[in-house]
Amino acid sequence: MIEIVICAVSVAVAWWLARAMWSYYYLNCMKDEKVDLPLPPGTMGLPFIGETMDLAMKKDFWEKKYEKYGNIYKTHVLGSPVVRVTSSEFVSTVLRGENTLVKIGVPRHIEELLGDCGALSVMTGPKHTPLKQVFYQVLSGISLGEFCPRMQEVVRSNLDMLLVKKNIAVYEEIKTLNFQASSKLLLGEDRFAASEMDKIRQAAVEFMGALFTVPWNIPGFPVWKARRGRQTINSYIGKAIDSNSNDIDNGDAISHLLKAALPLHCRRLTKDDIYTNSTELQPEYRRLTRMEVMDAAAEMLFMSSISTSSAMTSIVLLLGQHQEVREKILAELGEHGLLMAKDDVNIQPLTTEKLTKLKYVQCVIKEVLRLKPPVGGVFRKVLQTLELGGYQIPRGWTVICSIKDMQENSQVFKDGQNFNPERWLHVSPEESKQLRFENIPFGGGHRVCPGRKFAQQLLQIFTIELVARCNWELTNPNPTMARLPVLHPVDSLPAVFSPRRSRHNHPD
Ligand code: HEM
Repeated sequence: MIEIVICAVSVAVAWWLARAMWSYYYLNCMKDEKVDLPLPPGTMGLPFIGETMDLAMKKDFWEKKYEKYGNIYKTHVLGSPVVRVTSSEFVSTVLRGENTLVKIGVPRHIEELLGDCGALSVMTGPKHTPLKQVFYQVLSGISLGEFCPRMQEVVRSNLDMLLVKKNIAVYEEIKTLNFQASSKLLLGEDRFAASEMDKIRQAAVEFMGALFTVPWNIPGFPVWKARRGRQTINSYIGKAIDSNSNDIDNGDAISHLLKAALPLHCRRLTKDDIYTNSTELQPEYRRLTRMEVMDAAAEMLFMSSISTSSAMTSIVLLLGQHQEVREKILAELGEHGLLMAKDDVNIQPLTTEKLTKLKYVQCVIKEVLRLKPPVGGVFRKVLQTLELGGYQIPRGWTVICSIKDMQENSQVFKDGQNFNPERWLHVSPEESKQLRFENIPFGGGHRVCPGRKFAQQLLQIFTIELVARCNWELTNPNPTMARLPVLHPVDSLPAVFSPRRSRHNHPD
């Protein structure tokens, strides 16, 4: 008996010592001695694993930390010392300091999965800016106008599929439907049969399963499956590239990528990769290689399908809670003559010009993305010790800029926890400038999202068609939300859908 007690006491003492040394190490040895500032408040948890278990198990992990420490605090999660910041002042300092103070820091296995030539979202150095220009070319400007009728068509047919089902788990359905929509818009409308589309979707699900997991490439493990998924997706995108004659513009992202050009200094990385076409270009430019087109198309597909599904689900949630907002949207559609006179349910063909006139719908999207930003926060590695709010964040640490907590708690938004699209209606350009870093659902600074215009247009069209075509009741109007991989309701948001009835047929 005595042996058991001695053993238990020894384990407890050893454990206590290990924790004390762990905390001491972080408080005293990790600090940058050249900077005369303390580390931010906060706790580093257990030796080696830090507070990772708490993060995984406690849904309100970050909320509790914010309540206790405010806008800046330290912790240790996912194998790294981390400082989390939630005020616009700190967030803007970090995001504007890209490449000087901080840089994007993504685990090696994710970088490899994202592409052989280097995905834009993990790329650093001189290749990043020219490739980002290519993304902008493909996802905004003239291309947006071309995407508009296709977006309306795919959104409408997807909603009609929801209406057939009636009782649905919104997030699950939207993930599937939005993946199909994104693939049609980005990879091409008729390039793949339904069965092929299904295989691409399954491959993408396997791929995304590896984004927040252990990095082991062992058969059966997520990273191994993700590699398999990535190969499948590459083979289909390769097929789409091959089926695209140089001169034909199919109006999808692949066609635009094949026409895009990069400066010559952005040399291809893989020797055996080939340039995609030989059309004459200015001497200092070159076409993207086949592999670069593949990587860019795959990245657009993943980014679009994952974040917009979250935003669409939040639109269903918030408009489900606020019938009065649906009525106002319908009124705006009526004012602009967009509801077809014959039935009051179908929407006229939309164009980018028509969409820019719908100010209230734009405010609704903005408010949804403020209150429920799909990407809750962004990660950066500190390149040189950062000084923020009287604290130091040592070189090598990770900084998380929380978008969600900042947008929800910012003092500049009156009743910031409430859904109120009107708050955006009368914001002057001057105020808009001041609010630049208070509301950043698409990030900010050097790495701001190049797909934001594409996403905003898709979300606008989704909102218009949803409100015009559908009625819905939420089974659980106040679901618990999970933050990873993007913000989503834990119960997938069960709801009962029915077609919206024309007011002409039912004047009562
Ligand atoms: C509602 C939808 C979307 C949201 C909320 C969103 C949000 C974001 C955020 C917050 C970032 C910055 C990440 C960082 O700073 O580390 C980002 C980057 C990025 N997004 Fe989006 N995004 C959306 C849709 C899209 C779409 C539709 C595409 C492409 C089709 C896209 C492609 C990208 C890419 C390639 C980057 C990396 C940019 C870089 O590192 O320079 N996103 N997005």
